Amino acid sequence: MEQQDDKNRSCCAPMSRRELLAAGAASATAVAVPSAATAQARPPAAPAAAGSIPTARVALKVNGKTHRLELDTRTTLLDTLREHLHLTGTKKGCDHGQCGACTVIVDGRRLNSCLTLAVMHDGASVTTIEGLGSTDRMHPMQAAFVKHDGYQCGYCTPGQICSAVAVLDEIRLGIPSHASADLTARPLLSADELRERMSGNICRCGAYSNIVDAITEVAGGKA
Ligand code: FES
Ligand code: FES
Repeated sequence: MEQQDDKNRSCCAPMSRRELLAAGAASATAVAVPSAATAQARPPAAPAAAGSIPTARVALKVNGKTHRLELDTRTTLLDTLREHLHLTGTKKGCDHGQCGACTVIVDGRRLNSCLTLAVMHDGASVTTIEGLGSTDRMHPMQAAFVKHDGYQCGYCTPGQICSAVAVLDEIRLGIPSHASADLTARPLLSADELRERMSGNICRCGAYSNIVDAITEVAGGKA
């Protein structure tokens, strides 16, 4: 009878905290410690070799000048422009594709340079704000931004201007936007079209209406 009680307690009675910890430690050790044979068969992990960062050669034509670079394959186009070519006109705002401050024109199309790797654009032609114009010889879009006060702090402005230049090309090519009522008709040069197409470029100073005025003037239309 006493033996039966012991048997019942060992299988059904709740374990004490000490017993539970001891049992847990034993089972964890059993899982974690490999057998001697397994340990012998597995080679020790090799330390990361110095200089093992993968690199690639990339040729970029930036603002008309060809640059040949050896880059870490993880380098974004934005960091290539700013850190390797020292073209700091292109701004890093969010670095996550959300603000448009890093917009540049690649082979005629605008893109967020923080969201793309430089190695994906080998041989491409890139235009940054420095390539559009200079203080002495401003691009018409730059001049219009100045005339219409299309900025306050100016941080978003290089991206806004690159985007605006490409937007007018998109409209000229008849590429519709989400705001286009008829996808087969030529897009209108309306304020709604411009606001929609420029919606990826955030301006924390809120210069939006002046930006639309500037773009409209360059397009030669009314918004
Ligand atoms: S920095 Fe590229 S979208 Fe903001
Ligand atoms: S001008 Fe300041 S964020 Fe646009």
